[in-house]
Amino acid sequence: MAEKTFKYVILGGGVSAGYAAREFAKQGVKPGELAIISKEGVAPYERPALSKAYLFPESPARLPGFHVCVGSGGERLLPECVLLILLPMEISFNKRHPQKSEFIIEAQLIVTGIALILNTEIVKADLATKTLVSAAGETFNYHFLIIATGSSVIRLTDFGVQGADAKNIYYLREIDDADKLVEAIQAKKNGKVVIVGGGYIGLELSAVMKLNNLDVNMVYPEPWCMPRLFTAGIAAFYEGYYANKGIKIIKGTVAVGFTADANGEVKEVKLKDGRVLEADIVVVGVGGRPLTTLFKGQVEEEKGGIETDSFFKTSVPHVYAVGDVATFPMKIYNEMRRVEHVDHARKSAEHAVKAIFASTEGKSIEEYDYLPFFYSRSFNLSWQFYGDNVGDTVLFGDNSPTSENPKFGSYWIKDGKVVGAFLESGTPEENKAIAKVARVQPPVESLDLLAKDAEEEDDAS
Ligand code: FDA
Ligand code: NAD
Repeated sequence: MAEKTFKYVILGGGVSAGYAAREFAKQGVKPGELAIISKEGVAPYERPALSKAYLFPESPARLPGFHVCVGSGGERLLPECVLLILLPMEISFNKRHPQKSEFIIEAQLIVTGIALILNTEIVKADLATKTLVSAAGETFNYHFLIIATGSSVIRLTDFGVQGADAKNIYYLREIDDADKLVEAIQAKKNGKVVIVGGGYIGLELSAVMKLNNLDVNMVYPEPWCMPRLFTAGIAAFYEGYYANKGIKIIKGTVAVGFTADANGEVKEVKLKDGRVLEADIVVVGVGGRPLTTLFKGQVEEEKGGIETDSFFKTSVPHVYAVGDVATFPMKIYNEMRRVEHVDHARKSAEHAVKAIFASTEGKSIEEYDYLPFFYSRSFNLSWQFYGDNVGDTVLFGDNSPTSENPKFGSYWIKDGKVVGAFLESGTPEENKAIAKVARVQPPVESLDLLAKDAEEEDDAS
């Protein structure tokens, strides 16, 4: 079987991989030194598009429109511009997506130095001998490895939920999942959708399914949506807004089973509280799990991820971990944390590559000093959050779901300081301002005063 050797290998072809590749190019990687190995069939793209514009009924986003690095305002890293595609001939024709095959063959002609090895799942990693083995049996040797395998979805079949393997029950992680959803939306026009989960996927998918004119029910166990970030006050706005759009929300219960028709297609969702919902399509978003299994027992782990230092170096020499899989020192809170969001994926990847080059040149770089940043968009809404959501909270602004121009926010206060800030419908300047607040952590004399100040600023804007 084929054996290939690279100085640098990025394992994973997602957001981190794309931003790492750009940084490698900036640092002057030489032709043939770097390979990206991905089980996906396309070059790195901005994953957040999959739950938003990719599923729009009008003018949906399609590749190559959202390859990295457009998501952070950079130039698109088009495969044909910077990457050499190395593909075994037998997989260069993609039966499900012939258009992708042409694209691959075309790109093969342009040799610019970074090997993008697609449709290649690594099934074995040996960090002691510095080798990776693919499902097809190829061996890849490396000197430096960057683990950028991201997360996989948690499936209802993992908990043995009855009937959870029926057809038309979907999950969303990769572009192939999104393509299947697009097909289902077209096949089940004006049909009924049940969204299981009230987190990021639940909220973004309910909205986009409604935009596609489907009848949407959302089910989640908690008393309000997005409990890992939202307060009851923040959630009340989104739940009211979604209800006004015709989305039916069922809280405090879970899906315990599914029934299917004679074709094996899902027909009903059975809830723990005894209710039964009709469904032509089910979308499940009940969380992600970092993909670390290849490295179990070979590298130190922490809080479910691969432990790294402030330069994304793991416990194994020459092995780095970035993005969703890395548990790194969050300097601002003096705590080890893992972050499953795109901004960190981009920044951690760039930081790791800078650190690799600095180490080989005997230089040093600053420690990673990350301020958490999360965001989401749905309908005409758009929120941003910076910092830490711990401590007491103060809600401010107009959070009436029926308001024509709702605009509101929340601060989190711990030990007399503002540590987190959330804003719905902020302008770019206002979003920058709340980021600064979360970074600077100004002291707060009293929560009442802070609430009053925030209201006054809101009235003035
Ligand atoms: P990422 O998942 O991007 O890439 C991992 C890559 O590794 C994939 O290409 C995968 O196929 C590959 N891989 C894994 N195992 C492999 C193996 N054994 N062999 C070969 N390849 C392998 N965040 C945010 O801040 N705002 C947002 O709006 C969104 N929206 C959003 C929508 C959807 C649908 C998802 C799924 C996620 C988001 N996120 C988000 C989260 C964000 O996209 C996520 O945190 C980053 O993509 C993480 O980047 P990574 O590079 O770590 O993993
Ligand atoms: P999540 O953790 O945001 O939400 C999971 C939700 O499912 C929670 O509300 C949870 O309580 C609920 N749940 C758990 N078990 C359930 C059950 N049996 N039945 C019904 N509900 C159940 O995870 P997600 O929404 O699946 O997102 C997956 C990954 O994708 C995460 O890493 C997330 O950060 C990422 N993502 C991020 C964004 C964004 O940042 N805007 C958008 C989409 C996806």
